[in-house]
Amino acid sequence: MRKLIYYVAVTVDGFIAAPDGGTGVFLAEGDHMAWIVEHYPETIPGHFRGPLGLADTPPRAFDTVILGRTTHQVAVDEGLASGYPHLRQYVVTHRPGDLPVEEGLTASDEDPVQLVRRLKAEDSPLDVWLCGGGDLAGQLAQEIDEYRLKVTPVVIGEGRPLISGSTGGLPLVARRRVGFDSGVSYVEYARS
Ligand SMILES: NC(=O)c1ccc[n+]([C@@H]2O[C@H](COP(=O)([O-])OP(=O)(O)OC[C@H]3O[C@@H](n4cnc5c(N)ncnc54)[C@H](OP(=O)(O)O)[C@@H]3O)[C@@H](O)[C@H]2O)c1
Repeated sequence: MRKLIYYVAVTVDGFIAAPDGGTGVFLAEGDHMAWIVEHYPETIPGHFRGPLGLADTPPRAFDTVILGRTTHQVAVDEGLASGYPHLRQYVVTHRPGDLPVEEGLTASDEDPVQLVRRLKAEDSPLDVWLCGGGDLAGQLAQEIDEYRLKVTPVVIGEGRPLISGSTGGLPLVARRRVGFDSGVSYVEYARS
């Protein structure tokens, strides 16, 4: 069975965005970016893929992404139909009819746990990317097999959490750490 992987940028104090949803605290330049592009080219938003020479680059880790509606809205507010048109996209929302029809994008009001279990059961060599945000991730806490975090050296004190709500304390084991001169650390944790 393939995995659900929460791959996300996070502050040292565990936030994925500022209180207003802004993500400007995350470093978009530095030596970690080349590593991200090499290892996770499919996680670069669609409108950046061409300029970065990634238009024809196949995915390395994920073929499917699941996003909460608020996370999807970030791309919509930038005038895009969606953030990741090169992947199969699932947007979780209570109002799927409000989203314009886009090829490869499914707006779903299905219980996200059931949706993820179905996606995990598919036969594919690639995993499922949980893009965020914390509201959706909190509901999927029992289904997240791995956390792959791009930890940015900043503390913001308040904001949108990595995971919303109590999980009861899920034990994890550290799998991998990569440090960059930029100060960003890439860390992987798996469910123990
Ligand atoms: N740092 C990073 O790498 C990163 C990655 C992703 C996101 N983010 C940031 O995270 C923020 C968004 O996170 P968030 O936690 O506020 O929101 P979110 O999880 O992205 O989306 C929450 C929305 O998803 C829908 N939803 C959630 N659970 C549902 C369910 N069970 N059934 C139906 N619909 C459901 C609802 O939308 P409806 O109101 O449409 O029903 C809900 O308001 C943004 O600021 C984004 O920029 C950062």
